[in-house]
Amino acid sequence: MTTHGKSTVLIGLQYGDEGKARVMDTLLKNYDIVARFNGGANAGHTLKVGDVEIALHQIPSGIFYKDMMLYVGSGCVVNPEKVIREIEEIQSKGLEISKRLFISGYATLIQPHHLLFDEIYGKHIGSTKNGIGPAYADRAMRAKHKEIKNIRFGDYLADPDTFKEMARNALTKMIEKHGVKNLDADAEIKKFHENVFAIKDYLCHDPLMIENLIRSGKNIFFEGAQSVMLDVVTGMTPFVTSSRTIAAAAYTGGDLSIRYHEKTLAVAKAIMSRVGNGPFVSEFGGERSEAYCAEGDGFDHVKEKEYADSNPEELLKSDDKLEIGKGLRMLTGEYGATTKRPRRIGMLDLVMLRQNCKLNGVDELYINKFDCLMHYSKTSLPGIPLVVAYDLDGKKINYMPASVSENRRVKPVVEYVPAFKNDISGIRNYDDLPQEVKDLIKFIEKHVESKVCGIGVGPEREQFVTIC
Ligand code: IMO
Ligand code: MG
Repeated sequence: MTTHGKSTVLIGLQYGDEGKARVMDTLLKNYDIVARFNGGANAGHTLKVGDVEIALHQIPSGIFYKDMMLYVGSGCVVNPEKVIREIEEIQSKGLEISKRLFISGYATLIQPHHLLFDEIYGKHIGSTKNGIGPAYADRAMRAKHKEIKNIRFGDYLADPDTFKEMARNALTKMIEKHGVKNLDADAEIKKFHENVFAIKDYLCHDPLMIENLIRSGKNIFFEGAQSVMLDVVTGMTPFVTSSRTIAAAAYTGGDLSIRYHEKTLAVAKAIMSRVGNGPFVSEFGGERSEAYCAEGDGFDHVKEKEYADSNPEELLKSDDKLEIGKGLRMLTGEYGATTKRPRRIGMLDLVMLRQNCKLNGVDELYINKFDCLMHYSKTSLPGIPLVVAYDLDGKKINYMPASVSENRRVKPVVEYVPAFKNDISGIRNYDDLPQEVKDLIKFIEKHVESKVCGIGVGPEREQFVTIC
């Protein structure tokens, strides 16, 4: 008989804004620890309970469960300033955090020069400019010209004088190399140093902590950031984040042995979207949409402008897929949470879902924004489009080729299913769903070969239909 606790992993299956947090929110109550295993403050989600709303980037979800332990694993990169700001926000909402947040001493610190580098070079791939890529790159680089580039949280606290000088050195060199004006290296490093020390009490010194907790019967929930299509190795590189985002990474980056793995949950979105550049096979309007959305990057009021210029219902009737995508974006509110940049919009890609479900051993699949599919009934399209195969230079394939250029070339093979007109956002039980919706769920399950265990039918926490 097993007496140890269980471990569950949750990941996103598409490009990173599938609504993982809202799915987690309801599932977390059966767990004692919620842990991050990848990424840094690039990840973002807003949690809401009652009237209290908190935007988190670096600290794990679970903040509303007052006894839940929050763990940031060795696979993460940590920006101390962001951690402090989030702690302040959490405390300002009357929530306690001091004795339950733990950050692995092995986690890499995001240094000032990482932020500067991302500011200068991150634009090409549309990074979040949080220094994530440069921090992971320095971690892998180990040392350059005899200088150690990576600084782990535990190392810094154990030998602050040495590591402070390293951080200063790296920043000064980068400022000189790029002729950066208006950045005071000494002031930046002083602030960095103070920030690292301000979070010193959250240091997890013991690499066996999570292992010991699960052995003592505690249940752990690993919260994946971003999504598998943004995985640094198997995603659409180089238009990816810099960590491993697949389910297995929970154990390497979350500091637990794989023996405790129990199940993998995954989240997808019924109408796909992504921010940032790179191949997106099922995108409405293809590369024109990619260019249009890239131009909207950095422009604060894209959302307002789109609404001022066009009527979404009219756009949906267009024969031009770019316009249909724009109309769907407006009606489904697909704009970056913080930057407001327009997200690129695409059809639900079942080739991608199938591959990612298989590679990640998905046990339970959740699909958000199912209610939004009703907008297809107002489009010029003959139904709800679903990508069921790819056409690569005339050859039909059912996987995503392992190269960016081939993913640019493949054409989606689309099947249409009848579009439903009903607003399903008020439905809470599977039995009450229209037959077309039930048939669509079956269609998805057949193609993806995975069980759909729930669908989101609106943005509110309770707007959810549990299926299994
Ligand atoms: P959540 O927490 C969606 C994207 C960026 C860019 C690429 C690389 O909502 O899942 P990075 O700053 O990581 O170097 O950017 O990855 N990206 C995300 N997209 N959701 C996220 O976080 C993301 N984090 C990074 O837009 O294309
Ligand atoms: Mg996001």
